[in-house]
Formats: sequence, C-alpha cells, structure tokens
Amino acid sequence: RPPKPSRPHFARAENIAHRAGSGVAPENTIAACARASASGADRCEFDVQQTKDQQLVLIHDETLDRTTNVEEVFPDRSPWRVSDFTLAEIRRLDAGSWFSPRFRNERVPTLRQALEMLGKGRAGLLLEIKHSPRSPGIDSRVAAELLETRDLWEGRRLALQSFDRRALRTLHRAVPDVPILLLGGSGADLSEVEDFADALVLPHAAQLSAGQVRQIKARGLRVYAGPTDRPRVQRRLLSLGVDGIMTGVPARLRDVLRY
Ligand code: G3P
Ligand code: CA
Repeated sequence: RPPKPSRPHFARAENIAHRAGSGVAPENTIAACARASASGADRCEFDVQQTKDQQLVLIHDETLDRTTNVEEVFPDRSPWRVSDFTLAEIRRLDAGSWFSPRFRNERVPTLRQALEMLGKGRAGLLLEIKHSPRSPGIDSRVAAELLETRDLWEGRRLALQSFDRRALRTLHRAVPDVPILLLGGSGADLSEVEDFADALVLPHAAQLSAGQVRQIKARGLRVYAGPTDRPRVQRRLLSLGVDGIMTGVPARLRDVLRY
C-alpha cells in the first residue's frame, strides 16, 4: 500500500490547550495542563495576573469567584478581585471543585510552577499577560521572573502573548529570545508589529480568510487561531496553513491533526 501523502502544514501546526485545556479540566490549573500534555497538546496557554503583593498567578478572570471557592473562604471580600488578595490567601482556595469534585483542592498556580513543568511532559507554555489598570508593572515583573528562571525555560517551548502592545514591547526588549504573539491584531499595521512580535493570534477562527493568512505570512509572521473546539473549523484552519490552533479539548484536535 502506498504511504499516505504527507501534509506538511498539518504536521507543523501546534495543538495549544486554551486556558490549559478548559473543556476537560478546571481552566488554568496544573492538573489541566498535565492532562492536556498527555492528550497531545504542544503547549498549555495560561493567563498571568498579579496579586496584591505583586506575585504572578495563573487565572483568567480579574475576580476569583467564578473559578475558585473564594466566596466560601472569604465571604466579606466581594468583589473578590485577584489584585486585592495576597498570594498566601489565593493559595488557600480550591480552584478545581467548581469544575468537578474529581479536581477538589487543585490550587491557583503560580507562574513559577508552570515554568517548573517545562521539560517534564510534552507540552510547552504560551503565557498570556493580562494587562489592566489594576496590575501596573506586570510586564516588568514577568520579564524579571523569566530572567531569573532562564535555566527552566531556555531551549524549551515557551512563548508570550498579550492584547497589550506596550507589554509585549517591554517583554521583547527584556527576553528577545522568547517568541512574542500579538493577540487580536487582525487590523494591525504589520510593519509595526514585526518590530516586536513573531506571530499574530486571531481569535475569530471561523471568520479567518485565506487572504488574511497569506498577507500575514508574507511578512514572515506566523498565524495562530482560536480558541475553537470544532473539528470542521480546525480542518479549515489547517487547510489555510495556520501555525497553531487553540482549543479547550486538545485530544480532539490531536485526532484532527492525525488525518
Ligand atoms: O484567543 C486567545 C485567548 O487566550 C484570549 O482569550 O479570554 O481566553 O484569554 P481569553
Ligand atoms: Ca488567554
């Protein structure tokens, strides 16, 4: 039987576990990333935020109430903003039970814990810096942490992304060897973007056009898309030649990538 024709762009596209694989495990947790890694993810995407005492933790929302039991533990601290709690307080919270009792006692991870996972499984990291007026200086703190932990990530699969261009410029200056992805830059001036970024991430995966992908790639930038969990959309993205897809269900995308 002749071998199947190879489809090089399919093989190259990265399987990125969005929020570390939020479709099958509690988002932004170490358990989710370990599971994603075992399911074929090439990277875990995590959201980075800053605590009251300027520590870096991995959580998506600006508040703790959707993805932890903070209302039970600190009932009087509404609206439960991440930036109003210390790391020690946040580490007391259960970040898994809201998703399923199987993940009881999963904690909100620190950035350092995610970096320590590098090299232990298949998946690398894509860290999203969540910039907001409540987290001044988060970009410099992430840069400082990366400079201190170079031995954990150098030579491993690590990239950074943000909607905030100023944060990305700061990070690019501090750690120029870490690839930078600009989130949501579909209307961006590509000649400006290429000064600090290696790729664009286009969240509206189903609407992405072949022309857009061609134009971005012609500048030497890579294209990432998603999140999407729909195989039909994923197959279309692969046929357009995207370099990576974000998904909450990496095992499903792994099956799409196999064929
Ligand atoms: O599309 C990428 C994604 O990470 C941005 O969305 O809200 O899940 O952080 P969000
Ligand atoms: Ca994100």
